[in-house]
Amino acid sequence: MANPLVFAHRGSSYDLPEHTLAAYLRALDEGADGLECDVRLTRDGHLVCVHDRRLDRTSNGRGLVSARTLAELEALDFGSWHPGAVPADGDEPLDESHTRLLTLERLLEAVLAAGRPVRLLVETKHPTRYGRDVERRLVTLLRRYGLAEPKPDDPVQVTVMSFAPVAVRRIRDLAPGLPTVLLLEALPRWLRLGRLPFGTRIAGPGIALVRARPQLVPALRAAGNQVYVWTVNEPEDLELVLEAGVDGVITDRPARALARLGR
Ligand code: G3P
Ligand code: CA
Repeated sequence: MANPLVFAHRGSSYDLPEHTLAAYLRALDEGADGLECDVRLTRDGHLVCVHDRRLDRTSNGRGLVSARTLAELEALDFGSWHPGAVPADGDEPLDESHTRLLTLERLLEAVLAAGRPVRLLVETKHPTRYGRDVERRLVTLLRRYGLAEPKPDDPVQVTVMSFAPVAVRRIRDLAPGLPTVLLLEALPRWLRLGRLPFGTRIAGPGIALVRARPQLVPALRAAGNQVYVWTVNEPEDLELVLEAGVDGVITDRPARALARLGR
């Protein structure tokens, strides 16, 4: 049977508030091979781990993430909205790892301190006003931590993902050694032959696309690509992607995927 890598999507985000340090540490405890993280820029140029353009869904703030400074965002609560942020009887009380904004830098430090191999998938999100700054700042930060020119033995391996081909191209230009994933929500016509642009060797189709096009995964693999599928939470979807022979499963529930794989 296929034995794909298991990546925790925004951390163990079914159980704990997404993109919090607690959600990522839980995923590492559960044995995930890797972590997925979305990054955006604050008004003062810091990379922070937040999915939405707006603060409203995952914090007690309102408005655009990109309109706030890091200090302003650090004053917000990014955890209490989630049902998993309420401690069950006998659980440890919440600490700030459940509620505080996570910077990408803090996540890199946690991953480097994990003491075991970890793959980190960083997805760049795009407030258009910042143009290419997200990728430039990301590569600068990764260089500072020695993660932009990966060697096979490095315990921490970073891969950069985007839905935007232009963002993937920027990463290839800035740091040609960094692997990239082109995320796919639909099937572009140029993908018919299975060749990805800009030297990218990993395709990232969504599970809805894989359900609609069951031959997509084998076709992409036959053309020499790896395939990571998101967001695979339900048992029937897990069976579908295992059957298709994917290389990576990106899931909010890494423990469930790992149990299915007998790991
Ligand atoms: O892992 C890729 C997946 O995260 C893309 O979709 O909206 O969850 O960032 P989204
Ligand atoms: Ca993402």
